[in-house]
Amino acid sequence: TVIYGVIGDPIRHSKSPIMLNRAFREKGINGAYAAFHVTPGQLEQAISGVRGLGFRGLNVTIPHKIEVMAFLDEISEGARAAGAVNTIVNDNGRLIGYNTDGIGYVRSLKEEAEPSLAGKTIIVLGAGGAARGILWALAQENPAAILLANRTESKAAELASSLSPDYRISSLSWSDLREACSSADVVINTTSVGMSPNIDAIPIDATWLKRGAVASDLIYNPLKTAFLAQAEQHGCRIHGGLGMFIYQGAYAFEYWTGQSAPVDAMREVVLASFG
Ligand code: ATR
Repeated sequence: TVIYGVIGDPIRHSKSPIMLNRAFREKGINGAYAAFHVTPGQLEQAISGVRGLGFRGLNVTIPHKIEVMAFLDEISEGARAAGAVNTIVNDNGRLIGYNTDGIGYVRSLKEEAEPSLAGKTIIVLGAGGAARGILWALAQENPAAILLANRTESKAAELASSLSPDYRISSLSWSDLREACSSADVVINTTSVGMSPNIDAIPIDATWLKRGAVASDLIYNPLKTAFLAQAEQHGCRIHGGLGMFIYQGAYAFEYWTGQSAPVDAMREVVLASFG
């Protein structure tokens, strides 16, 4: 049996074990995936354990995605741009860090809402770790522009200027959002506004968007945030955050096994686990 896992603090609510074990079973792969509670003080030892026990792969979640990078042998370009690692591949003792959150998000957005992002104008709300995690992957799609807006405007300006000018990412004042949204093709909420238990909160008024534009939310609890519900009412296409979780796991599965991920089975088991 090939061993895999996820580390985090807290970890007990993680849906990754049921999702990845389902994927192994679907593909007839002899793998086992477990969740491990690892505190920040135990992180280095946990990574030594991956080496010593010969785990093939590990997912890394909050609060370790940044700190774990110090203990790896190689970091992928996408993970470096995201400033975070969520997937480790153990390649015969060499630990390589990847970030599948950003590319998982983009794959989900393309599969579920907007097949081509090339030439599109994209607005990203928020400038925290979640925003940084998707910017590189969005930029790979050759959009016309990526506009970053944050309540604390200096953080959006800082994040935009920390990334290569090749990515065409610029910052936008929060007070200019209304006007900017009226000509954007995709508006993505990466802020925590609307997350359970504050499910009635919205980051911006979704009626500012063009009808037919895509409203997307990284939040998946609830599955449909108030922002998405309002956007849908207004005539927008909507995209929730569950697909990002499914596809970050799908990419991890693919990096570890070299096989295509059974995405439908993975989604089904995760949805069922919400009860
Ligand atoms: P994450 O890693 O999930 O992105 P974070 O780094 O704490 O978490 O960032 C949270 C994001 O949500 C920030 O962009 C934050 O804006 P500020 O930088 O101004 O704090 C945004 N956010 C949180 N509450 C908000 C609110 N009520 N209105 C607008 N933005 C909010």
